[in-house]
Amino acid sequence: MKNSYEMRLVLWAFWLYSCTGTSNTLFTIPLKIFVGKFNSSVNLDLSHLKRTETSDSGLSLASDPTGLVNFLDMVDNLKGDAGRGYYLEMLLGAPGQKMNILVDTGSSNFAVAAAPHPYITHYFNRALSSTYSSTGRAVAVRYTQGSWAGELGQDVLSIPQVPIGSITINIASILTSDGFFLPGVNWQGILGLAYSTLARPDSSVEPFFSSVVRETGLPDVFSLQMCGAGLSTGGGGADPAGGSLILGGIEPTLYKGSIWYTPIKEEWYYQVEILKLEVGNQNLNLDCKEYNADKAIVDSGTTLLRLPQNVFSAVVEAIAQTSLIQDFSEGFWLGTKLACWLKGETPWRLFPKLSIYLRATNASQSFRISILPQLYIQPITDIDDGLDCYRFGVSSSANGLVIGATVMEGFYVIFDRANKRVGFAVSTCAESGGSALAEVAGPFGAVGVGSDCAGGALLREPWLWAVSYALMATCALVLLLLLLLLLLPCRCHGNLPAQLTDQSSLIRNRIK
Ligand SMILES: *[C@@H]1O[C@H](CO)[C@@H](O)[C@H](O)[C@H]1NC(C)=O
Repeated sequence: MKNSYEMRLVLWAFWLYSCTGTSNTLFTIPLKIFVGKFNSSVNLDLSHLKRTETSDSGLSLASDPTGLVNFLDMVDNLKGDAGRGYYLEMLLGAPGQKMNILVDTGSSNFAVAAAPHPYITHYFNRALSSTYSSTGRAVAVRYTQGSWAGELGQDVLSIPQVPIGSITINIASILTSDGFFLPGVNWQGILGLAYSTLARPDSSVEPFFSSVVRETGLPDVFSLQMCGAGLSTGGGGADPAGGSLILGGIEPTLYKGSIWYTPIKEEWYYQVEILKLEVGNQNLNLDCKEYNADKAIVDSGTTLLRLPQNVFSAVVEAIAQTSLIQDFSEGFWLGTKLACWLKGETPWRLFPKLSIYLRATNASQSFRISILPQLYIQPITDIDDGLDCYRFGVSSSANGLVIGATVMEGFYVIFDRANKRVGFAVSTCAESGGSALAEVAGPFGAVGVGSDCAGGALLREPWLWAVSYALMATCALVLLLLLLLLLLPCRCHGNLPAQLTDQSSLIRNRIK
């Protein structure tokens, strides 16, 4: 330990890990949207992605092999950003009620507000839909952040910017919620795109995309391009960034270079297998099981890149060593503080590239997806007139590694369910000043790493839950003590940032 502050960080991290890690319920769904606390106005020029041709029917011009839909019609159908989530406009019921629905590959229910809530502008009024039918079953979902409860029903739905016509789907009508709708979000529901294993109350509730495939005959593939890379993350922006959700296949104008695929280890979340992590060109050299403890998933409903505690500590240490800012306050790494530089002094040259090696479909090979610091050192606007402030887009996790929006914004991500694999290619919208902010490269060998890095999902063992609840009471007490320690004055002597700003006080000032 270099100093007592680091000691405190490690202690804190350890307790945080043992307290939250062992107490999470078996199927806690990792929706963890960064609350939109900062004012910003984000603009994105997607003109290069705009359709170049249109068909009269909207259905005849096929880039999908079955000839059902024109993928170009779906380009740019998302709004939002990594911080507040990406959402799609849908028409629910008959006559159609316009709702914005968050795209979440980390859960499996289609759920929509069906009662008023102070943070949302409108809700789905079941009484006004002639096609709504209730099943009378209750349903509830708890996420890493927030929860909701309501009733299961069915209704028809169409998506103006996805020309698949009208389909009948299961709907969870949200009647009560806690911490689910957040101030500043512009969506009223959530579209869970993962497998039925995660569906509530049980897997007999067919998820949205399975219904789409069954009713339309579209191929069992969807793909996602999220275009907030390098843009300010904030709340209240008038023109949120955008993206594309392509149902049924792959739209070639959304990526560059080749697509590399990794197998889906198990069909519940989109669980993948991570073999190696690099900071700069330096291998973290952890046992590959650590990267997948207790799972590694691809989740558009999580804002940050979330890493298991051990991995997180190693990444932070490696970044601190590689970057020129060893004396950085741990508040920045822990996400409680922003780092601010004088306006115009972009800090990205100080930080290394992060690379994640994934198992290739040929199991003796791997490939690598890399993100440049522009993706994980994220600008936050409107904090101070003379300063540009940034937050750290990586956080620690007690329930597995999550490739969240921070990483996904670099890539066009293909959820090829038909072939049980997830593909990554460099996204056409992940660039700044003509240079790409993300890279995909391969093949690399997979020798030297375990043949199965994703085995041994210890935390799925039921007996552990009993033990963990017993630990919780002790943990709460120790956490309280450590919190007090952490709140002691910071001996900040970071040389490069002009200022570190306390996020929580900013938040308090901004929520009036
Ligand atoms: C898989 O990769 C290994 C190592 O690169 C190679 O020798 C082998 O031919 C590949 N197998 C297939 C089926 O492509």
